[in-house]
Amino acid sequence: MTKLSVNINKIATIRNARGGVSPSVLEAAINCQKFGADGITIHPRPDERHITKKDVYAIKPIITTEYNIEGYPSVDFIKMVIAVKPEQVTLVPDGPYVITSCAGWDTIKFQDYLKEIIIEFKENGIRTSIFVDPKLAMIEGAKLCGTDRIELYTEDYATNYTEDKEKAIAPYVLCAKKANELGLGINAGHDLSLENLAYFAKNIPNLAEVSIGHALISDAIYLGLENTIQMYKRLL
Ligand code: PXP
Repeated sequence: MTKLSVNINKIATIRNARGGVSPSVLEAAINCQKFGADGITIHPRPDERHITKKDVYAIKPIITTEYNIEGYPSVDFIKMVIAVKPEQVTLVPDGPYVITSCAGWDTIKFQDYLKEIIIEFKENGIRTSIFVDPKLAMIEGAKLCGTDRIELYTEDYATNYTEDKEKAIAPYVLCAKKANELGLGINAGHDLSLENLAYFAKNIPNLAEVSIGHALISDAIYLGLENTIQMYKRLL
C-alpha cells in the first residue's frame, strides 16, 4: 500500500506568524503518526520561514514511522541531514527564496553533481529520492544518478486533473512504468488533495509514498487532523 507522509511545514508557518511555540510542530508530528500517517516530511529552508534548523533536530527523536527531509542540497543542508539521519532525504532543485518547489531536477545536466551527493547520503545509510518532472529522459537520468527513488512532481497533474484527468495522468503513468523497469522506487507530491489523490494512486503502478502538506493541513482546519488523515489514508 502507498504510504502517506504528512508534510508539516504549514504548522510551522502558523507558529512562526506569532513567533511563539504554538501550534507545536512536535505535537503535530506525534499526532499525525498517532492518527495513521506513515511518515513525517519537512522542508527546511535557509530563511527558516517555516521549519527551523532547531525543528529538524527536535523532530527526529519523536519519529516512530519514517522521517523524510526535503531540500536543496547546499553544504549546510547536507551536513544537517547527515547529522540527523532521517530514513529518507528528498533533493529538490529550487533556490532558497521560491515560495514552494516549482520544478524537478534536470537529471542529465546535474548528473555528476547529484551522483556525488547521493553517494554521500547513501554511505550514511539515508535513502535518497530526487524530485523530477514527469519526463522519460529525467527518469532515465535519475537512474544514472544512483538514486533509490524519484519523487514525481505532481503540480501539472493536479492543475489539469479537473479538465481531463486521463490526459493529466498519462505522462506520470509512462514515467512510473519506466521507473519500475529501471528498479527505481516511486514517490510523488505537490498539490495532491482529497479530490485528485485516489485517481493518481490507482493509476500509478507501485507508488511507494505520497507526501502531502498544503491541502491536508488546510482540510484539517475544517475536518480535524485525525479525520483528515484517515480520509487521505482511505484514498490510498
Ligand atoms: N514534495 C516537495 C518536493 C515539496 O517541496 C512539497 C511542498 O513542500 C511537497 C511535496 C508537498 O506539496 P503540498 O504542500 O502541495 O502537498
